[in-house]
Amino acid sequence: MKAVRFHSYGEPGVLVHEDADRPRAGAGQVVLRVAGAAVNPVDAMLRSGMVREVFDLALPHVPCYDVAGVVSEVGEQVSGFAVGDEVVAWLPIDGPGGAAEYAVAPATALAAAPRTVELAEAAALPSVALTAWQALFEHIGLTSGQSLLINGGGGAVGGYAVQLAARSGARVTATAGPASRERVRSYGAGRVIDYTETPLVQAVAGERFDAVLNLVFLPPQELARVADLVADGGAFANTVPPGLERTERGVRNLQVFGRSDAGQLAELVALVDAGELKVHVGRRLPVSELRAVHEELAAYQPVGKTVLIP
Ligand SMILES: NC(=O)c1ccc[n+]([C@@H]2O[C@H](COP(=O)([O-])OP(=O)(O)OC[C@H]3O[C@@H](n4cnc5c(N)ncnc54)[C@H](OP(=O)(O)O)[C@@H]3O)[C@@H](O)[C@H]2O)c1
Repeated sequence: MKAVRFHSYGEPGVLVHEDADRPRAGAGQVVLRVAGAAVNPVDAMLRSGMVREVFDLALPHVPCYDVAGVVSEVGEQVSGFAVGDEVVAWLPIDGPGGAAEYAVAPATALAAAPRTVELAEAAALPSVALTAWQALFEHIGLTSGQSLLINGGGGAVGGYAVQLAARSGARVTATAGPASRERVRSYGAGRVIDYTETPLVQAVAGERFDAVLNLVFLPPQELARVADLVADGGAFANTVPPGLERTERGVRNLQVFGRSDAGQLAELVALVDAGELKVHVGRRLPVSELRAVHEELAAYQPVGKTVLIP
């Protein structure tokens, strides 16, 4: 099969589109014929070796841990999934990913794919929607009527966070740039701040929120100013490492690390099929373009959620 892989850590140029052995399903695993694989910002850190102390990859490595596809082989001790099933998964980050024609997946990571979204585009759901859900409801414990500020509402995690928070009855304020602000408003944000026109802290001067979810890389002093927008005893949740060492005024300091959870993913799929959660894809590209996408990531060019098609 064809796959994109890297044989050593380094710059985007280490990514090569090449022939690779088709994976086989071991016990507890399935093989998927990949329909789509989504790119995440952390893919660039994994490729560079920057996070190898946490995720020491077996090389060569196939990137992209968000995947949608059709089950083509079922290993021993797998129940509930059969050849031909359309599924989505957040694959183990330190295992082989989905930038290939076929990918191996633990059966415990699988959920049936949404029926209302094209299969390839469903790859834009798993890790980002799960991280948004876990940040809001496991970490913050968001409840109806609370005020929530989402910094980075225009990104992939932010888009799901705005929708999930709004449908839970929270009053949502979100930042978004010109390319995203109308979409973020349509997702249920009561107020959208265009951070390219007015800096967030200036736009909400004098206000505080029951909770703030930060999804944007910020220097420590600026991150502290965003955390200071939380009301006394509220919650500051942040997905971008390293986060803050401490917060003041009884504000809970929550560093979020999303995790694969097939049960929660099935609930998110049900919301998609009920028309209550929109899946946004910025663009679709052939998987052979992955190196170019990583070059954009390295240059911090915002490109929207990219789904790769094998
Ligand atoms: N800890 C975890 O488990 C976990 C899980 C997932 C993601 N993350 C991290 O969370 C962050 C967000 O992830 P993502 O997948 O949502 O990324 P993404 O889709 O690439 O989001 C980037 C978007 O954020 C917006 N943005 C950029 N600079 C901004 C600023 N200064 N103020 C407000 N918005 C700004 C831009 O959107 P617009 O200009 O269009 O508004 C940009 O397109 C990343 O750092 C990612 O690595 C962590």
